[in-house]
Amino acid sequence: DRSIKIAPSILSADFANFGAEIRAIEDQGCDWVHVDVMDGHFVPNLTFGPPAVKAFRPHVKTVMDVHLMIAPVDPYIDAYAEAGADILTAHVEAGPHIHRTLQAIRGAGMKAGVALNPGTPAESVAHVLDLTDLICVMTVNPGFGGQKFIDMTGKVSQLRQMVGDRPIHIEIDGGVTTQTAPLVAAAGADVLVAGSAVFKGGSVSAPEVYGSNIAAI
Ligand code: DX5
Ligand code: ZN
Repeated sequence: DRSIKIAPSILSADFANFGAEIRAIEDQGCDWVHVDVMDGHFVPNLTFGPPAVKAFRPHVKTVMDVHLMIAPVDPYIDAYAEAGADILTAHVEAGPHIHRTLQAIRGAGMKAGVALNPGTPAESVAHVLDLTDLICVMTVNPGFGGQKFIDMTGKVSQLRQMVGDRPIHIEIDGGVTTQTAPLVAAAGADVLVAGSAVFKGGSVSAPEVYGSNIAAI
């Protein structure tokens, strides 16, 4: 299904009210809920780990899309399966064995995602496409919400071509707004993560990033 899906990132939500924030975005009609896990090591910021993600699970009625910005990944895969992640995404830069990591994610019963930092070429995933359900193209250097969009439309088009007719989602993460969303959707992305465009001051404030604007692309 190549229709455009919106995945608000709760990184910009009120950390004391995740349950209510998740309900609010789902009431607005989001497709997935994007959960950013950061370890203060792979990226210079720290969020939460498996127990918190497990606590989010009952509030998420759609799809829980967990983006790991951690290294190493493999020791934690079972904990995120147990926490209820539907999709678990690891960075290709997080270790030398992305092939093994993707196999392990699927082996634990989740959909497997692979994320690419802005400096990482599309070719880095050429040999793992058959183990991949989602490719996350970072359009900021990961670590913080609210950063400026880095144009990766060339990489997105290249990946869309590489993917061919495999059922792989191409997700964009970072700096997605009503201005940048059409650019990446036209290049072939089908899942748009949006943090600060959706949450401002700890509450859902921009329902216009949903629905008509984006569905019309
Ligand atoms: C960045 C995270 C993103 C972030 C996006 O490291 O992976 O998911 O929350 O936030 P915005 O949409 O504000 O760039
Ligand atoms: Zn993310």
